[in-house]
Amino acid sequence: MRKPNILVARAVFPEVIARLEQQFEVEANQTDEMWSKVQFIEHLQGKEGAFTTGVERIDAEVLSACPQLKICANMAVGYNNFDIDAMTAAGVLATNAPDVLTETTADFGFALLMATARRLTESEHYLRAGKWNRWSYDMFAGADIHGATLGILGMGRIGQGIAKRGALGFGMKVIYHNRSRLDAGLEAECKARYVGKEELLKTADHLVLVLPYSPETHHTIGATELALMKPTATLINIARGGIVDDAALAVALRDKRIAAAGLDVFEGEPAVNPALLTVPNVVLTPHIASATMPTRLAMANLAADNLLAFFGGKEPVTPLNSAVLAIK
Ligand code: GLV
Repeated sequence: MRKPNILVARAVFPEVIARLEQQFEVEANQTDEMWSKVQFIEHLQGKEGAFTTGVERIDAEVLSACPQLKICANMAVGYNNFDIDAMTAAGVLATNAPDVLTETTADFGFALLMATARRLTESEHYLRAGKWNRWSYDMFAGADIHGATLGILGMGRIGQGIAKRGALGFGMKVIYHNRSRLDAGLEAECKARYVGKEELLKTADHLVLVLPYSPETHHTIGATELALMKPTATLINIARGGIVDDAALAVALRDKRIAAAGLDVFEGEPAVNPALLTVPNVVLTPHIASATMPTRLAMANLAADNLLAFFGGKEPVTPLNSAVLAIK
């Protein structure tokens, strides 16, 4: 029987490629070539399925150039690389990779918060540069985590994981804002109190962003919002580039409008706004919040599971536009 053919757009675990090869004709980009959009389309043409990594844009242009395409399985929980409306209109199923990365990403959010509030990278650079020659009472004094007020904007599974770490592990007071309020049971589990966005900005000692990116959430944090925050506050973005206005943030950090920021995601990444590189009070990491090997393997396997289920005539595990399945 003819095997469906699929494209794996970026290098991934060889064992996942081997799993896929049992059921599919696989073109795998295991040399991890950086393709332009035109090259991506050339590789995708004639393929019925795609394994994407959260970077490859699937929009009307790609869909009309690749009419054989039936499913794109993202190895990421975020899916702002997918134009879901265009995919649904073209009858192409979209799937993402939620849940398996929740705890790992919440761990990282907390790590970035602690590194930022306690000035870990800034002080390490100082030491490495040979500048440490005496003790002083205020050297790299930062902000406390324990007992502080933790604000969370975006209270999905990862936000809830961060809330629990803060409340249960560090005795923090947790407040959150979200499109919809959690039910009372979940609020109690997270020991989190729902507040309006303005109160969140004004009250949080540490504000962690974990909301999905969409045109509606573009620049959710800009100059106006930064001006509402405490001058002693820390801002952490592990959500997506574009949720924060990075240029406005660099100005706020330079002028000490807020104390510090920790950023794992950037507008236009992998490019980083050069102004952010010139301020010392920011910790910068290259979009690695879910990066542990077991979690990345689980994410890759979940993307593979979705492709295997779909072409095996079964219900995909984590569909985003199930309406497409109903049509078929
Ligand atoms: C990572 O950013 C993801 O969306 O999985």
